[in-house]
Amino acid sequence: MVAVAIDGPAGAGKSTLARRLAKHKGFIYVDTGALYRAIGLKMLRNNISCDDLKAVEQLLATTELDIRFIDGEQVVMLDNENVNGLIRTPEVSMMASDCSALPAVRAFLLDMQRNLAKRNSVVMDGRDIGTVVLPNAKVKIFLTASPLARAKRRFNELVEKGIKAELEEVLKDIEQRDYNDSHRAIAPLKQAEDATLVDTTELDLEQSFNLLLKTVDTLAGE
Ligand code: DC
Repeated sequence: MVAVAIDGPAGAGKSTLARRLAKHKGFIYVDTGALYRAIGLKMLRNNISCDDLKAVEQLLATTELDIRFIDGEQVVMLDNENVNGLIRTPEVSMMASDCSALPAVRAFLLDMQRNLAKRNSVVMDGRDIGTVVLPNAKVKIFLTASPLARAKRRFNELVEKGIKAELEEVLKDIEQRDYNDSHRAIAPLKQAEDATLVDTTELDLEQSFNLLLKTVDTLAGE
């Protein structure tokens, strides 16, 4: 099994590029952020705050989380419900970021992620894949872009979907999540020492993919 670990901040194009890379290589694509989002969704639905550790632990103990692959697409099943269409809202994004700082949440998701990589060749993206989840991954990429470039991409995505947004708000959100994700005590977002930096600030999607592919092939020795 081959593992490609891709970490980086929100909006760096990780999921789009990782999905395409997986298809190209014939590997499965695992979007680990979706798992944190599913937990965030359940916490919102149950009105549970991250400060209430007892309630979080209780919630996890009664949570069945599963990933399926349908036509190569990852489907997140939360308590037997497909939640793919419900986990991309700004509220869930923020809750996912907040609850991902909790050790209980990270422990809950760790084995699941490792097992996927044990059984399949994967392109796995997240924040701590190269540092914590798959420290022995053959290929480690840290994919990033400037906060403004990432905010502009997110903003354009929202506009395309017909969702009203302000660029300034999107930028603030991104900066807040960057701060949260990189300042938490456990498994913070940071480049693994042996990861290769891929910066897409000045690149469009096509150029970013070509750079990523070239970097991955070089690291994999292909
Ligand atoms: O990649 P994303 O935006 O869908 O991730 C949602 C949140 O989940 C993000 O703010 C941080 C957290 N996350 C994490 O802590 N570790 C991961 N491996 C993936 C995501």
